Amino acid sequence: MAEVNLLRRYPSGKRNVQKRATAKTEEHIRISRQYGKEYFDGAREYGYGGYRYDGRWVAIAEDMIQHWGLKPGMRVLDVGCGKGFLVKDFMKALPGLEAFGLDISEYAMMHCEPEVVGRLHLGSALKLPFPDKSFDAVVCINTIHNLVRPEAVEAVREIERVARDGKAYIQVDSYRTEEERELFLDWVLTAYTHDWPEGWKRIFAEAGYTGDYYWTYVMG
Ligand SMILES: C[S@@+](CC[C@H](N)C(=O)[O-])C[C@H]1O[C@@H](n2cnc3c(N)ncnc32)[C@H](O)[C@@H]1O
Repeated sequence: MAEVNLLRRYPSGKRNVQKRATAKTEEHIRISRQYGKEYFDGAREYGYGGYRYDGRWVAIAEDMIQHWGLKPGMRVLDVGCGKGFLVKDFMKALPGLEAFGLDISEYAMMHCEPEVVGRLHLGSALKLPFPDKSFDAVVCINTIHNLVRPEAVEAVREIERVARDGKAYIQVDSYRTEEERELFLDWVLTAYTHDWPEGWKRIFAEAGYTGDYYWTYVMG
């Protein structure tokens, strides 16, 4: 188990935390947690403000392929895959790699990239509909924090179960300073569970997780 940032080549965009904090209401939170059209492709107050493919995940896929030594014919799963951008880019980065995704959002499934049609499963991270050790690597980015703590532990356990040899990567919301924590609280819409890295490490230990992990920080 190692703390390693496999999203280091993800472009860092500035977030207008002040605008989100001022606009945010209980209704925005309720709607964003439905993971429907508003969350992905509605106004920024409800989530992404337009979740569109732009190829940014190719670099991340390349780094993950290298990290685990993945080869054509191997199988990789993205839990909380949204519209399947990373699934698509895994196959772009390594033709012959068998990439799949799972997400709770029917909207995301229905608006996925054409290349991943038939590769995405509608379901919850809480109960992965796959046999033990059925993937050569499993990734889960910015998804586990959308569960309440006991469920987050269960989802981590599920990732560990379906991954082979602890080849997994989980990234979740966290903060390093009180200032980052305040920014996170102003920004957050969907997350139920968030913590300092040490708190997340306790969750990983409770779940018996042996994969890698890193944090998403909100920076102003
Ligand atoms: C912040 S988005 C991350 C999407 C993608 N991994 C990325 O980084 O662009 C969170 C995703 O988690 C999905 N999600 C929320 N709860 C989930 C659950 N219980 N099981 C599976 N997916 C879930 C949402 O539908 C959404 O696609």
